[in-house]
Amino acid sequence: MQLNPHYAELNESYLFSTIAHKVADYQKAHPEADVIRLGIGDVTLPLAASVTEAMHKAVEEQGHKGTFHGYIPSEQGYEFLRDAIRRYYAGHGVELDMSEIFISDGAKSDLGNLLDLFSQDNTILVPDPVYPVYVDDNVMAGRKILYLPATAENGFLPMPDEAPHADIVYICSPNNPTGATYSVEQLKAWVAWAKANDAVILFDAAYECFVSEPGLARSIFEVEGAKEVAIEVCSFSKIAGFTGTRCGYTVVPQALAGGKLNKMWLRRQTTKFNGVAYVVQRGAEAVFTDEGMKEIQQNLDYYRANAAVIAAALDEAGVWYCGGKNSPYIWLRCPNEMGSWEFFDWLLEHAHVVGTPGEGFGPCGKGYFRLTAFGDAERTKEAAARIKAALATL
Ligand code: MLT
Repeated sequence: MQLNPHYAELNESYLFSTIAHKVADYQKAHPEADVIRLGIGDVTLPLAASVTEAMHKAVEEQGHKGTFHGYIPSEQGYEFLRDAIRRYYAGHGVELDMSEIFISDGAKSDLGNLLDLFSQDNTILVPDPVYPVYVDDNVMAGRKILYLPATAENGFLPMPDEAPHADIVYICSPNNPTGATYSVEQLKAWVAWAKANDAVILFDAAYECFVSEPGLARSIFEVEGAKEVAIEVCSFSKIAGFTGTRCGYTVVPQALAGGKLNKMWLRRQTTKFNGVAYVVQRGAEAVFTDEGMKEIQQNLDYYRANAAVIAAALDEAGVWYCGGKNSPYIWLRCPNEMGSWEFFDWLLEHAHVVGTPGEGFGPCGKGYFRLTAFGDAERTKEAAARIKAALATL
């Protein structure tokens, strides 16, 4: 037996596990400290009423012989949910075929699993900083990874004219962690680059629901011809609070690689995955009803208001930041040239607030720090006041 040697190349633990351990240690040493967690992007509002109603109804169905559902007829997902997603995309001008939509238990799993479809020999291009899963997934597989710096100078939106040749590129927009969001115009350049390099774009649209400024893309498929070069991965976690319920979807276009990738993904999923629970898929379907969408917009507005509260505190403290407008994340520059882990410890000590060190998202995140707007509103106000007060002592 031989172990996969590439696991030894990973950091000892996953970013958010490291943070959780650090906070647990701090809390143990300071049991009196009232710690506010604005670190991991986990939601705090409960599921919308439309969603839980649909799930209750589905649970009831599962308890009766006439309405019980066993194995899902298609591992690709129930038609009722795929059709709801198809209509959601049509609402922002993107036509999808039902065969292109695959339901999953979340974007994180799909982002890793999709790599089954690609040779080990592919070179990967990853913006830096970015969601650490893209890098870790490829390190585990032993692929060559190239980094594309996302800096304040390029607005945290690197463009392909700065890019080396690669076979697979990850684009996360709105970006985790910086909140920077590509416009449809900018994505046109990425689609052209992918065509010229015979590359595939893995587009992570998990935060598309936060896009609120005109001209910014919610889907890479808003770009003409993108279906020939891109796969899009999305999630119900951020739009509808499914972090603990688990549901997402991936769009693998028929136009990509002459339909081969769609066929391979179907083959992979039917072999390795038995689909998402019926009850969960019924809940996800309810997100797209008129009532569901209304409730969900209220939740998104609640988080947007949190972002504004954090932003106002940073403005008053004179700290540079971006994000928080088309994204639930505020990306700030650590004061006094502190390193990002140094600022993490300082903020925990002086404000009892947890955030995420920018460096955890890649070397270019050095000296930056991420705060999430997914917290409880009262606790976020309290955290913002504490952050402002602590910064005033510097
Ligand atoms: C984050 O905090 O970056 C996200 O919550 C992680 C995730 O969605 O898996």
